Amino acid sequence: MKKSKTKCIGILTSGGDCPGLNAAIRGVVKAAIGTYGIKVVGFYDGFRGLVENRTVTLEDRNVSGILTQGGTILGTSRDKPNKMPMGGKRMDMTNAAVENVRKHHIDCLVCLGGGGTQKNAFHLHKEGGIDVLTLPKTIDNDVWGTDTTFGFDTAMWIAAEAIDRLHTTATSHHRIIVCEIMGHNSGWLALGAGIAGGADVILLPEIPFSLERVAEHLEQRRLSGKRFSIVAVSEGSLSQEEAAAAEQAKSGKKKKHSPDVVIEHDEDGNPYRLVQEPKASQIARQIQHLTGTEARVTSLGHVQRGGSPSPRDRLISSLLGTAAAEALAKGNYNNMIAIRGDSCKPIPLEEVAGKKKMVPLDHPWLATAQMVGTCIGV
Ligand code: F6P
Repeated sequence: MKKSKTKCIGILTSGGDCPGLNAAIRGVVKAAIGTYGIKVVGFYDGFRGLVENRTVTLEDRNVSGILTQGGTILGTSRDKPNKMPMGGKRMDMTNAAVENVRKHHIDCLVCLGGGGTQKNAFHLHKEGGIDVLTLPKTIDNDVWGTDTTFGFDTAMWIAAEAIDRLHTTATSHHRIIVCEIMGHNSGWLALGAGIAGGADVILLPEIPFSLERVAEHLEQRRLSGKRFSIVAVSEGSLSQEEAAAAEQAKSGKKKKHSPDVVIEHDEDGNPYRLVQEPKASQIARQIQHLTGTEARVTSLGHVQRGGSPSPRDRLISSLLGTAAAEALAKGNYNNMIAIRGDSCKPIPLEEVAGKKKMVPLDHPWLATAQMVGTCIGV
C-alpha cells in the first residue's frame, strides 16, 4: 500500500447523469482503496443525500462490474446545498452538509458533476470550510478548464448514429428532418454529432440563426438534385430575433419574445428558452412553410444520456478517477481534475466555478463544418 495523507473520502454524483459516471466512481474507489488504503463513503443522490446523510460504505465489491454500466450507482439530483427545496421552501442546507462530512471524519469530498456541481462544491469549500475535489462530467462538454468531459463522447456517438439513421428515411421520403440534440446552452454536442453525421444544417446557441438563410440553403440543395436534408439543432439555439429579445430581456426591457417562447435566464445570466413548443418542432414548422418541402421532427432527448459509455469515455473516466485518488493521497484538494491532452491536470476550483466553456467562433470544428458545405444558420 502506498502512503496517503488522506484517510477517508466522501464521494457523490450530482446534476444530470451520463455514461462514464460509474467508470469514474470505480476509478476513484479502486485506486483509493487498493493503492492508498483510503476509506470511501458514498453519498446517495448528490448533495441531497449529503444533507440527509444517506450513505453507503464503498468497497471494491461495490464497484466491481460497473465500468461498462450507464447511469450512476450512487444516484443523482440537481439539488444545491445552499438552495435546497425542503418542505415546500428553499433552504440553505450548507451547515447540514458540512456537519455530515465531519461526522464521517471525511478529509475530502469528491464531487462528480458538470458546471453546477463545480460551483456547489466550491461553495461548500468557501462557505463551509471543507476540502473538496471535483471531476468534470456532462454530455454537454461545457465545463471550463478541461479539454473534454466524460459523457460527451458517448452522447456524440449516439446523436451521430441517430443522424445516420435519419438520413436513410429522409432520403426515401424526400423530406427535411429536424433533429433536436441536447447540450443545454452550448453547441458542442450538436456541432460534433452534426459534423460526424453529415448534417446539412447545424444550429448552435453560440450563433443565432436566420431561418431565411437556412431555408435558402435547403432550397439550393433541392435545386442541385438533393431531395432530402438533415437539420441538427442544439436545444439551446436561438433565432436572431429570439437572441435580440433575450438581450432585451436581460436588460429588463422585455420579458417575452413570442407567445410560444419565453426567454428566461439561468443563474449566470445566460438566456434559455422556456419551451412551450420544442425548438425542433418550431423550426420544422417554419422551414416547411418557407421551403414547401415536407418536414419531420426527431428529438433525441434523454436517449443521449442513457446506456453504456463508449471506450473513450470509459478511458477518460478511469484516468480522471485514478488521478483523483493520486491527488487525494498527496493531500492536493480544492481542485478540479481536468483532461489536458492525454493526461490529467488539477485546476484550482476557484478558477473553474461559475464559468462555462462555449464553442468559440474560431473553433476548427466550425470551420470544418462550413468547408464541407454545412450551413450554420448565418
Ligand atoms: O446537462 C445535461 C443535460 O442533459 C442537458 O443537455 C439538458 O439540457 C439537461 O441536462 C436536461 O436535464 P433533465 O434531465 O433534468 O431534464
